[in-house]
Amino acid sequence: MDNKIVLTGIKPTGTPHLGNYIGALKRVIELSNKHKTFVFIADLHALNLIKNSNDIKQYSYEIAACLMALGLNLDNAILFRQSDIMGVYQLSNFLMNVTPKGLMNRAHSYKAVLEKNAESGADADAGVNMGLYTYPVLMAADILLYNSDLVPVGADQKQHVEFARDIAGYFNNIYGNVFKMPEPMIGEDNGIIPGLDGRKMSKSYDNTIPLFASESELKKKIMRIITDSKTPEESKNPDESTIFQLYKHFADENEIANLRKMFIDGGMGYGTAKNILFEKINSVLSTPRKEYERLMANKSEIDVVLQDGAMRAGIVADKTVNKVKKLMLG
Ligand code: TRP
Repeated sequence: MDNKIVLTGIKPTGTPHLGNYIGALKRVIELSNKHKTFVFIADLHALNLIKNSNDIKQYSYEIAACLMALGLNLDNAILFRQSDIMGVYQLSNFLMNVTPKGLMNRAHSYKAVLEKNAESGADADAGVNMGLYTYPVLMAADILLYNSDLVPVGADQKQHVEFARDIAGYFNNIYGNVFKMPEPMIGEDNGIIPGLDGRKMSKSYDNTIPLFASESELKKKIMRIITDSKTPEESKNPDESTIFQLYKHFADENEIANLRKMFIDGGMGYGTAKNILFEKINSVLSTPRKEYERLMANKSEIDVVLQDGAMRAGIVADKTVNKVKKLMLG
């Protein structure tokens, strides 16, 4: 284990799906075997979007249960809810005062809404609440609170980690060298993980396969993957097939090469390919699925882990906040 501190947050905005697993969850589990890791459920970050507390609560349990069922190494990893740490509200408020408004104006996520509004002729700031606008400050507080060195995120979040560095720099310039400079850690490019309709797997397209769908639901979903209309005899392009693109992330090299050949050679219908995909995913996920189901039926076990995590994360957070408060207010 090296001594770099890893930190990442996962937003509870939907039931975890295969895209989340391939893109993020798998890597967090791996990192937790090698590093001291802070993993939190970014429920405060979900608030600018989700206004239903039951949904946030449910998705938060699902994320925690997924991580635990997949084998998050709890000897090294501290798993907690972002909102359980008082220090994050405090630090984020302090950081507001060293963060230029112009920096927030440049945030991709905010700019994306402005552009949409411009296209539709709506008021520039329509639908923008301050939670969205100041999202990067809260995220900087997350990152800086725990002295993080490495922040594994998807490419879409890289700018936010860079903002955390900028904000750390503004603070350090005024108050002395307090914050470490965190590094974004962008994983290998898994490409776009396609969903049922071939577009990127995403809750907003309603094309996801839930990570721990029951066996029968998993099968049903896979059978519903949209394909072209090639006959079984015809040669098929694996690189354009959702079936093959998903298979790649669950099978070993030999199996991948075999299925690729079967696509190219022809003689295999899409129904058969879907069955092969189902069997593979099911064999990888069936054991953690049982544990996931057990945990979701025993939420108090999840609560114990989250409470313990909050206690341990809270100690680190309080130290940082006390230091910052003293420097800023005397
Ligand atoms: N903004 C991240 C996302 O949407 C989630 C997140 C919140 C996060 N705080 C973080 C990620 C701190 C890394 C570090 O995916």
